[in-house]
Amino acid sequence: MQKVGILTGGGDCPGLNPVIRAAVRKGILEGYEFLGIKDGWKGLVENSTIPLDINSISGIINKGGTILGTSRTNPYKKEGMVQKVVENFKKMGLYALIAIGGEDTLGVASKLVSDGLPNIVGVPKTIDNDLSATDYTFGFDTALNIATEAIDRLHSTAESHHRVIVVEVMGRHAGWIAVEAGIAGGADVTLIPEVAIDLEEVCNVIKKRHSRGKTFSIIVVAEGAQFKDKGAILQEQELDAFGHVRLGGIGETLAGEIEKRTGCETRVSVLGHLQRGGSPTAFDRVLGTRFGVKAIELIKDKKFGRMAALQGVKILDVPLKDAVKELKTVDLELYEIAKIFSS
Ligand code: F6P
Repeated sequence: MQKVGILTGGGDCPGLNPVIRAAVRKGILEGYEFLGIKDGWKGLVENSTIPLDINSISGIINKGGTILGTSRTNPYKKEGMVQKVVENFKKMGLYALIAIGGEDTLGVASKLVSDGLPNIVGVPKTIDNDLSATDYTFGFDTALNIATEAIDRLHSTAESHHRVIVVEVMGRHAGWIAVEAGIAGGADVTLIPEVAIDLEEVCNVIKKRHSRGKTFSIIVVAEGAQFKDKGAILQEQELDAFGHVRLGGIGETLAGEIEKRTGCETRVSVLGHLQRGGSPTAFDRVLGTRFGVKAIELIKDKKFGRMAALQGVKILDVPLKDAVKELKTVDLELYEIAKIFSS
């Protein structure tokens, strides 16, 4: 029997377990056996695995996170790690590997395919929805619904207290959660990493609302948004293994500026990892399931070095290197729609 390894790397997101479940169920039907690699690429570096069979994937479709664990390990960061990955792949007796991840995890997968581990296929995930070559990644819909519900809830308290509330959502380089939650939740201003923040414009919207008799406002800001003059707000200067800074704090800075410039009492709500936790929506469960099945079909057809992708309503496959070439940032036509409600 050919053995297939599965790993989940990078930030977790709702929908990972449905992919694992679907790949194992479809794979068993096709005659494969499975091995779970623990904590992303770290498991391949350290030869750390968990059994993966029909029993271990039972009852997980509605569970958030990943039963395999995850980490932000980058084997290309440290001398000798790639060698370990190649050695352990052989030691584990793997025929093929399904790498489930975002730009970083799939970037490693793409490099490994060229560096001596060709039998890898990819499945795209991220709540940020910023991977090229796929219209959606699972995890995004769940995060979007959580953010929208939060904005709904913040409306009533903002209105009762006549306050401005700044809601900080995730989105490192792309503001998909911000723009869609802003539209769905009826935000008064939406701020994304793709467009520099103009504080004067933001404060004018708030003042204009006041002049119309509205005594509250909701401002949605993506964590990666930047002020025209200040740049990104960082929580830590230190970079992770993939060269990312830890963002956070834009909401607090923005709220301070708004209060100072408008005189309106302003509060901040940082949604943070709440957006990544909990049960996946039906959309993410179905998308994850379709991706898991596709991953097995790619292995069966020996279409290695490729990634499952959603284009329109169809699940197709694309070269892994196309998926990690550049990030999919917010369509500015969509942003213009959000801006209609800031006027
Ligand atoms: O990549 C997804 C993401 O949720 C980003 O939106 C966010 O900046 C980052 O992960 C947070 O990472 P961590 O969980 O390591 O703090």
